[in-house]
Amino acid sequence: MSLFIRGGTVVNADNSARADVYIEGGLIKAVGLDLIVPSDADIIDAGGQYVMPGGIDPHTHMQLPFMGTVASEDFYTGTAAALAGGTTMIIDFVIPNPQQPLMEAYQIWRGWAEKACADYSFHVAVTWWDDSVHADMAQLVKEEGVNSFKHFMAYKNAIMAEDEVLYNSFSRALDLGAMPTVHAENGEMVFQLQKKLLEMGMTGPEAHPLSRPPAAEAEAANRAIRLAEVIGVPLYLVHVSTQDALDEISKARARGQRVYGEALAGHLLIDDSVYRHPDFEVAAAHVMSPPFRSKEHQAALWQGLQSGNLQTTATDHCCFCADQKAAGKDDFTLIPNGTAGVEDRLTVLWTNGVTTGKLTMEEFVAVTSTNSAKIFNIYPRKGVIRAGADADIVVWDPAASKVISAKTHKQNIDFNIFEGMKVTGLASHTISAGQLRYKNGELMTRPGTGSYIKRSAFQPVFHALGKIADTHKAKPVKRT
Ligand code: URP
Ligand code: ZN
Ligand code: ZN
Repeated sequence: MSLFIRGGTVVNADNSARADVYIEGGLIKAVGLDLIVPSDADIIDAGGQYVMPGGIDPHTHMQLPFMGTVASEDFYTGTAAALAGGTTMIIDFVIPNPQQPLMEAYQIWRGWAEKACADYSFHVAVTWWDDSVHADMAQLVKEEGVNSFKHFMAYKNAIMAEDEVLYNSFSRALDLGAMPTVHAENGEMVFQLQKKLLEMGMTGPEAHPLSRPPAAEAEAANRAIRLAEVIGVPLYLVHVSTQDALDEISKARARGQRVYGEALAGHLLIDDSVYRHPDFEVAAAHVMSPPFRSKEHQAALWQGLQSGNLQTTATDHCCFCADQKAAGKDDFTLIPNGTAGVEDRLTVLWTNGVTTGKLTMEEFVAVTSTNSAKIFNIYPRKGVIRAGADADIVVWDPAASKVISAKTHKQNIDFNIFEGMKVTGLASHTISAGQLRYKNGELMTRPGTGSYIKRSAFQPVFHALGKIADTHKAKPVKRT
């Protein structure tokens, strides 16, 4: 099947221009004006609309087993919801239990993801260390197309990686040309504060942000950044939520370190007052880590995107319904951590970023798609409208509007953190691998049409650029 998107303005991260787009065999074949296309091509009229690279959400957790339950959104429902919002690729996480072989966990997640209806890829978490982990990392990079490894510095007594694990894994990532990533929160500090708050009788969700102060995030961010500096490896920090952690990233970048940061749509738009909501269900529905922060931190995150010290946006889409959140009714530390947003990210960022003048359209494309494609080494296959790229495209109607609600969203969760937000700018059509999968409110998906996307290791020059760790050049002193 061939498709012809006619009459729109193509918006890439580096420029915008009136152009038509011709698609065949899952790929973009031509971009320009006065294209000669087959007469039987299906036509999408994009008059008055923008034609942009489909969103890439580099941080989701479909059907994640976590905190005694399993996330309600699976790889089919989650990627379908993503397509409804203009996102055509997710990068999810394989999270082995400590002592579980990485390859075993990876195969399990690959099985779960077979039903995805949009393209997907995996970061693999390193939650423990031994020789088998060392070996499996190589197999994942060289044979399976995994070029990023995740480290949870929080969740003590579960999946937290101690400094020894971080050191070993970052070093191995450097050898393999892979990117270490971190959830930066000091897990010991959080654990002790949780205990203290419970002893004080603070059992409700209002205690959640108190147990995870900005300093816990800043300390871990600095620790991970400094480890990466000494080892000489790049680093990507997921869900940066505070001015404090952003400052650590900005300082490292100013020193010449290759450090990247991700902002979540939720952290940009929701503040911490939600945890003081009188209704437990509402407050618990917002429990995620790091927590939503004060408006000052939100403003700092927007500035991080504007300055380029934060490069990507994501959702950390990890859905738990009210009956699952109820596990923490009497103890906030038992509320499964996670919130949704894979369907809403593009529209809430367009509404609050582009229409307010905080971001240009091109910057919007950069932070929702192109920069993730570059950082995770799938550019220019993804993240750009250009001949030869995958035909993952969103046709964006800047005049369309709606009010976000859990009653009407496609996500498999009974709550929406953006409930009631009026958004202007919506996907009218979403094309995945050259197939029209969403049109004006209607999904045309079926399980299994998404593909696993391998991501190659980075070239050594990428890792060697910037500051080279002193230990790489060291030689013993010859003494007489
Ligand atoms: O609260 C969150 N973020 N849940 C998912 C796991 C994680 O920390 O990313
Ligand atoms: Zn996290
Ligand atoms: Zn996450």
